[in-house]
Amino acid sequence: MGKSYPTVSAEYLKAIDKARRKLRGFIAEKGCAPLMLRIGWHSAGTYDQATKSGGPFGTMRFKNEQCHGANNGIEIAVNLLEPIKEQFPILSYADIYQLAAVVAVEITGGPDVPFHPGREDKQECPKEGRLPDATKGNDHLREVFCKQMGLSDADIVVLSGGHTLGRCHKERSGFEGPWTRNPLIFDNSYFKELLSGEKEGLLQLPTDTALLSDPVFRPLVEKYAKDEDAFFADYAVSHMKLSELGFAEA
Ligand code: HEM
Repeated sequence: MGKSYPTVSAEYLKAIDKARRKLRGFIAEKGCAPLMLRIGWHSAGTYDQATKSGGPFGTMRFKNEQCHGANNGIEIAVNLLEPIKEQFPILSYADIYQLAAVVAVEITGGPDVPFHPGREDKQECPKEGRLPDATKGNDHLREVFCKQMGLSDADIVVLSGGHTLGRCHKERSGFEGPWTRNPLIFDNSYFKELLSGEKEGLLQLPTDTALLSDPVFRPLVEKYAKDEDAFFADYAVSHMKLSELGFAEA
C-alpha cells in the first residue's frame, strides 16, 4: 500500500522551497489565488484511471488544452506562472502548477496541503470533455470524480469547498459572481452560503446546489458548514489526492 514517490535531487528540493516562497509573495501581490487553485484543479481533474491518461502532468502549458471549453480564462494563470517557471528551469510545469494551487490555499488562510515533488511533464494533452459540466447534477459529478478520476463521494463534497475562493466570469463560463462574500479568503463559507440559499450578489451553480439533494452529500455539507476544522482536515487530504492522480502509483 502507500505511494512510492520519486526521489528528486537536493537541488530540485531547494528549488521547490525557493519557488514556494516566491509563489507566496507573487500570489499575494497579484491577488490571483483563485486562478492558481483553478489551474491546479483543471490540470489534475482530467485524470482518467481507465486509460491512465490526463492528470497533473503539466500539459496545461499547451494551447491545445488551454482551448478546451472548460478551461476558458486558464491561459491567464498559465501566463502568470511562466516567469516563475523561468526562474526555476529545473522544476517541471507539472510541479509548478500543483505547488501554486497548494500555496494559493495556504496564503488565503486555508489548510496546509502536503506537497510531494517529482511530477514529470508529459507531452500529450488529455481529450477534451473530462472536467465536470456545471449545468449537470450528481450522477454526472460521480461519473467524473469517482468513475473517471477514481476519487470518492466524500472527495466531491470537500473539494467543492474550493469554491470558497474566486468567482465565475460571464465571458469565461457564462456564469457570473462569487460563491461567498470573501472570495479571497479560504474558509468554510462556501458550505454556509450553500445551505442558506441563493442571495443577491452570490452565485450557486447547478452542481453546487445538487450537493444538497443527495443523501450522501448533504450531511457532509452540513458537517463542513458547522465545523471548519473538519473541513480543513478533510480538504487537505482530498486536495493532495487530487494533485497526485496518476502520480507515484504504488
Ligand atoms: C464539482 C465540480 C465543479 C464544477 C462544475 C466547477 C465549475 C466552475 C465554474 C463554472 C467556474 C467559473 C469559471 C469562470 O467563469 O471564471 C469555476 C471557478 C472556480 N473553480 Fe470550480 N468547479 C468544480 C469544482 C472545483 C474544484 C474541485 C475546485 C478546487 C478544489 C474548484 C476551484 C475553482 C476556483 C478557485 C474557481 C474560481 C476561479 C476564478 O476566480 O478565476 N472548482 N468552477
